[in-house]
Amino acid sequence: MRELRFGICGLGFMGRTHYAHLHKHPHARVVAVCDTDPRRRAGDWTDGVGNIAARGAEHASFQDVRSYGDALEMLADDRIDAVAITLPTPMHADVTVAAARHGKHVFCEKPMALALADCDRMIQAAEAAERNLMIGQCIRFWPQYETIKRIVDAGGIGPVRFASLRRRASAPDYSAGNWLLDGRKSGGALFDLHVHDIDFAQHLLGIPASIAARGCAGPSGRVDHVSATWSYSNGCYAVLEGGWVFRPPWPFEMAITVHGDDGTLDWNSLHGTAVLHYQGEDEPRRIACDSATGWSRELDYFISCLREGTRPERCLPESSRTSIALALLEEQAIAADTPVLVSDLP
Ligand SMILES: NC(=O)c1ccc[n+]([C@@H]2O[C@H](COP(=O)([O-])OP(=O)(O)OC[C@H]3O[C@@H](n4cnc5c(N)ncnc54)[C@H](O)[C@@H]3O)[C@@H](O)[C@H]2O)c1
Repeated sequence: MRELRFGICGLGFMGRTHYAHLHKHPHARVVAVCDTDPRRRAGDWTDGVGNIAARGAEHASFQDVRSYGDALEMLADDRIDAVAITLPTPMHADVTVAAARHGKHVFCEKPMALALADCDRMIQAAEAAERNLMIGQCIRFWPQYETIKRIVDAGGIGPVRFASLRRRASAPDYSAGNWLLDGRKSGGALFDLHVHDIDFAQHLLGIPASIAARGCAGPSGRVDHVSATWSYSNGCYAVLEGGWVFRPPWPFEMAITVHGDDGTLDWNSLHGTAVLHYQGEDEPRRIACDSATGWSRELDYFISCLREGTRPERCLPESSRTSIALALLEEQAIAADTPVLVSDLP
């Protein structure tokens, strides 16, 4: 099969991150890029972006790459098989729908959208066009999280009693026009940052029976820190905590602990790359993990699904929609200051 021809829509932090991987991928080629900022679409990336580290080159060479200032124009380009949508969140739904109607496969960044009606439109458009849609819930592909899920699923720590998922940062200050710090656009840290842990918790443990949550507003004006407890009917529970209210120079941190009857798995991004498996010995077992990021591994998976003609079963859009539904329930539990039942998940 020939290489897949990609268009990248939005050349900020995530657009550059995906470009850096796609343009050297053995089965993909970037044939078009789009950004409203003329410097960015010309390949001048000297302005720093990003909350973990600036990824990719400072200058991209767009030889043989068509450059557009308008997303809809790029989507009409016949050379493109698939698009990576790395635009601010409020544009995800409209651009995904338009891309599907133009017959493109879509890889769209998380969060899928802030309203379930928009998630539904995206799913329906991809289905109607018979194209793949995958949302970039990259933590499912982050090597340490993937390792932990593999061990848990294989019964390696016995029945799970609880999990703790944490993601903390200072407020992002790099986004175009500072859209991330406008809660109406980004959804605040609950939807933009914490949604990663919501998505992984439901991927690992399933849908809880109820959710209790506390949170506070921060610089976005929406919930920018949250502490949620998910309860399951079998007695298992998960505590999800994080946000971007922390004052600089707070280091970005993601962490997960999963405890079962036969052992505990633990990883913290500030403490190295190995997952630690505590089983009652003098030392924990250190489980080495792949050094690639979840960002590149999710694209590898998306590309492999397209090459094989299969749906992205590991990260279906219906499941990404469920993560938005769960985020909305957390927001509801915070606003009402009372736990919510999940039995009637919309
Ligand atoms: N998976 C992750 O870990 C992760 C990390 C950061 C951001 N994200 C998500 O990725 C998406 C993009 O975030 P970002 O951090 O890259 O933002 P960003 O502000 O750095 O980049 C957005 C880019 O889109 C461009 N743009 C804006 N409006 C446009 C339009 N109408 N047409 C074309 N280009 C337009 C901007 O000029 C900018 O270059 C968001 O949904 C965000 O939540 C995901």
